[in-house]
Amino acid sequence: MKKLKIAVLVSGSGSNLQVMIDAMQAGRLPIEIVGVISNVADAYAVVRANNAGVRTAVLSHVPNGKKMGIRTFEKHALELLDEWSPDLVVLAGFMRVLSAEFIQNVPCAMINLHPSLLPNYKGLDTHERVLKSGDTLHGCSIHVVTAELDAGQVLTQAVLDVAQGDTPESLRLRVQKLEHALVPFTLELIAKGVLELDETPISSNLPLPIKLYF
Ligand code: GAR
Repeated sequence: MKKLKIAVLVSGSGSNLQVMIDAMQAGRLPIEIVGVISNVADAYAVVRANNAGVRTAVLSHVPNGKKMGIRTFEKHALELLDEWSPDLVVLAGFMRVLSAEFIQNVPCAMINLHPSLLPNYKGLDTHERVLKSGDTLHGCSIHVVTAELDAGQVLTQAVLDVAQGDTPESLRLRVQKLEHALVPFTLELIAKGVLELDETPISSNLPLPIKLYF
């Protein structure tokens, strides 16, 4: 089977990147990570990518040491994506809002991992907000990236029951475990053509979003 070429954008610890690296290296998924871009120089995700021998670019500062603005980041990121020509861009803990122009110019489909059951709790601090609201279900979503923040077609979700005594930190850890299952599950569906992201509207052999209950 032809491997799905993936570029990953990161800002943080990169635990989801590690799941992709492990699955690629073990041959569990038909994917090839063609490059990782970080907008944070000391993100642990960069260490993970380097350790795995994956091509990595840090786009955090301009040559005079000033922090890179988002437009400059986007310009360099687009140049790299054009060079790497991935089939898919995965935002895995990428924490800056991308412009509509960038999203339009990315040379393939782009998906984002988000720590809530979209359309609920777009944006930040999702675990705190779930606890405040008294919701009994929580989880994570993978959706297509569009110009509107966290609003593109939701492809897959993993769902858990909020437990009595859960804190933002316990929810973060529990949702992270779900993410580590949802990311490879979703990539497999895309790599095998069950989900076709190049179609408009997105075509799927299954009703969307596909939900996993834990
Ligand atoms: C993940 O929990 C992901 O859902 C979240 O960042 C974390 C990255 O973890 N993304 C967002 O909040 C995007 N708005 P990781 O760096 O360990 O993969």
